[in-house]
Amino acid sequence: MAVVHSADQSLAQVAAPSGSISPTGSLRSGPCLLVIFGASGDLTKRLLMPAVYNLTCDGLLSDEFAIVGIAMDDLTTESFRERIARDIRTFNTRGQFDPAIWERLESRLYYTQGKFDDKTAYTRLRELVGRLEVQYKTGGNILFYMATPPSVFGLVSGNLERAGFKNLPGSKRIIVEKPFGTDLASAIELNRQILKFWDESQIYRVDHYLGKETVQNILAFRFANGMFEPLWNKEHIDHIQFSVAESVSVEGRGGYYDRSGVLRDMIQNHMLQMLAYVCMEPPVSFEADDIRNEKAKVLKAVRIWSRDEVRKNCVRGQYGAGRMANGSPCPAYRQEPDVNPQSNTETFAALRLFIDNWRWEGVPIYLRSGKALWKRGTEVVVQFKRAPATVFRGTAVKKLAANRLIFHIQPDQAIETLFQAKTPGPLMQLQPVNMRFSYGEAFKASRGTGYEVMLYTCMLGDATLFSRTDLVETAWRIAQPMLDAWASEPATDFPNYEAGTWGPLAAHNLIARDGRRWFEVINRETLERVPLFRGGDPLFLSQVGTTLRPLAATAGEAIIKRGEPGSEMYLICRGEVEVLDGGGKVLATLRDGDCFGEVALLLSEPRTATVRAKTPCDLFVLDKSDFGRILQDHLQFAQAIKQIALDRYNKTVGMEQLVPSAE
Ligand code: BG6
Repeated sequence: MAVVHSADQSLAQVAAPSGSISPTGSLRSGPCLLVIFGASGDLTKRLLMPAVYNLTCDGLLSDEFAIVGIAMDDLTTESFRERIARDIRTFNTRGQFDPAIWERLESRLYYTQGKFDDKTAYTRLRELVGRLEVQYKTGGNILFYMATPPSVFGLVSGNLERAGFKNLPGSKRIIVEKPFGTDLASAIELNRQILKFWDESQIYRVDHYLGKETVQNILAFRFANGMFEPLWNKEHIDHIQFSVAESVSVEGRGGYYDRSGVLRDMIQNHMLQMLAYVCMEPPVSFEADDIRNEKAKVLKAVRIWSRDEVRKNCVRGQYGAGRMANGSPCPAYRQEPDVNPQSNTETFAALRLFIDNWRWEGVPIYLRSGKALWKRGTEVVVQFKRAPATVFRGTAVKKLAANRLIFHIQPDQAIETLFQAKTPGPLMQLQPVNMRFSYGEAFKASRGTGYEVMLYTCMLGDATLFSRTDLVETAWRIAQPMLDAWASEPATDFPNYEAGTWGPLAAHNLIARDGRRWFEVINRETLERVPLFRGGDPLFLSQVGTTLRPLAATAGEAIIKRGEPGSEMYLICRGEVEVLDGGGKVLATLRDGDCFGEVALLLSEPRTATVRAKTPCDLFVLDKSDFGRILQDHLQFAQAIKQIALDRYNKTVGMEQLVPSAE
């Protein structure tokens, strides 16, 4: 039996004074006992405990709070505390770990060993909980956290009920983790099992994307500002893109992933939740059900594709061997441990969806996500309709670029608008520019795990950030035709993209058919792979990123020619190019993420090699004149570039060559 330890020091001593308001003025959670099933697992050590620690540091936990862990591992309260105390030092997200705060939290940790199907384990749990309720005055409020596979949700719920937890005074809530079903039928069944024991208002289904500040801010941005909402419809928006690119592979989770695939793992849950936030109608209030009703409405309006339509509107990919974004080799997905060597599981998917309601009729919504891609980045790009260019007739301006609003969800955390401005000088010439709000610059918040807000709001009984039965099932209804089509028609072209690239060509073609292209956010991480830019400050890199212009090259086309003057650098977004010497010999093959021609940014010299597209290529171009203009604002970095030119390219460059206006 677990030991109940003597009274510890209060959390209020390290955080908020007693009462319900913390020193920062924020509301503290109410009295509560957090019972974690599966407490010896990864989720607890990596996310839950760091989140509870962060809440304690921020003074957001009630003084009437304690944690009980329950799992199969043969641990005692003492050894559980020791283990978690070790782990928290590795996984806490604060720059500075405060052992004093931790000690006080640690004294509130308890453990009881037990199998989930062992009835006596629940009797022991019941006894321990009873004592802790008295000790910590938690008022009978219990939050059961299921850090377990979904297959035991029903089993644990039934055993809790039989052990008499349900009829005790105080609030009882249950938090469940994904995957919430593996298809529509299993999600309905899982809901049925849980709803046998719990009322909908007691069930909190986690989607950790909703815990991300940048995702929550989509609602704040849309509904706290009058600026964009009048434009937020089919009259003004051309289309919307959602991208979740992961540079990691399946990272040892092959067993799980091979039964899942990206549609189940990312799109059905996280991405459709983001879609709902971006596309829903304004809620009547910020009450949980007002928001969730609007989310449910918009998801219900997503057109359900037929089998035939899936073929036209949804594409999938699987990665083959390649090298990761960091340069290390990556085995093909089918060679990953615990993956079927003939696996048909998709590690990449791109979808074209429509929302059949008044606001969005006819506006394509594109979604794509994948593993082992060239970069990590989650973005939502809202592309507005182009302004008529007629007024610029007779000027040097040939075409107007579309305005875009970009929600940078991660790793960049920002909101950015892209528009065009007149470049200084006597001529009417335009240049794409941006306005950017960056979280890091605007706020001093500490980095969290995303679970803080989930735990905290659940303790307050606020279900806004959690999914509901109908939402989960509606999202599965959208995904089901793709699951069916893909299960019945094995992909004949897998693997169809190399690890470390931008995904399969089919994704490019899906959107290109509509005369559009994926908007690639070239972030800091990506630009720093160009040796010339390494060490540039964030503003410099952001300016370079906005200035890049896209260019498509057809297979066989010479992009730069040996001997011709060079005045721009190229970054390969997708495709392969060959570098040829004067005799036509291939010196190197470059592909997604590589750059070439960057010496032209330093010196106006004839090109020393020809570069020819081996496949159709999507490129980004940086013109020397733009580079010089940007460096003008970063004269210190221009000095550093002179050194880089010497060290890495063996070129002596004068300041006047880099920044002509500094002559
Ligand atoms: C999880 C998926 O839900 O989300 C993982 O199971 C994925 O496969 C992860 O890597 C991505 O989360 P984040 O917060 O890193 O974008």
